[in-house]
Amino acid sequence: MKPILYYIQKWRGDIPVTDNQIIAVFNERHPETLKDIQALGLDPQFIGTGSSRKVYRLTETMVVKIPYYNSTQNAQEILVIERINRESELEHLRPHTPEMFYGNKKTGVSLMKYYKPISSYASVIRKTEEVGQLFFQIGVYDLGGNNFRLDTDDTIVAVDLGCANEPVPEND
Ligand SMILES: Nc1ncnc2c1ncn2[C@@H]1O[C@H](COP(=O)(O)OP(=O)(O)O)[C@@H](O)[C@H]1O
Ligand SMILES: [Mg+2]
Repeated sequence: MKPILYYIQKWRGDIPVTDNQIIAVFNERHPETLKDIQALGLDPQFIGTGSSRKVYRLTETMVVKIPYYNSTQNAQEILVIERINRESELEHLRPHTPEMFYGNKKTGVSLMKYYKPISSYASVIRKTEEVGQLFFQIGVYDLGGNNFRLDTDDTIVAVDLGCANEPVPEND
């Protein structure tokens, strides 16, 4: 069986595959490993890693997070993001929460918007500490350094929400 995205690229010549096409294929195939994702015809470019996930850029605007150790951290992160998007009293966190296009709690794989690296200006670092405090208030800890990145308009985004006091209730 030929990979779906291979066909999409064939049809479209040199027009790159879109984020929405990738999201649709993830929803259909639910790839689990880097190999599975490459087999879809994609060419993931490694961005960074921490204690449990490897992150790859798929397009200009989208990354994939793949667990390599303790996939519960990714499942936890998916729950936290869903909770922030659902609960109106957590609206103040939304500008600092990564946009998630696909999140699979079983495999731990997620698709997110790409955020650029943070600058090392003291004023930015101070702001990351303030944002970290806001997340700490809802039980998310371990935010610092590389776990912050910047949105296109330079808003600080906490890209690693995987460390949260368990359990994060789904409907509290
Ligand atoms: N949405 C994203 N856009 C760009 N880079 C990201 C994104 N999410 C994570 N990263 C980079 O990848 C690294 C590893 O991701 P992270 O979620 O922190 O994994 P871990 O849970 O293993 O620490 C991060 O430190 C960050 O620099
Ligand atoms: Mg991290």
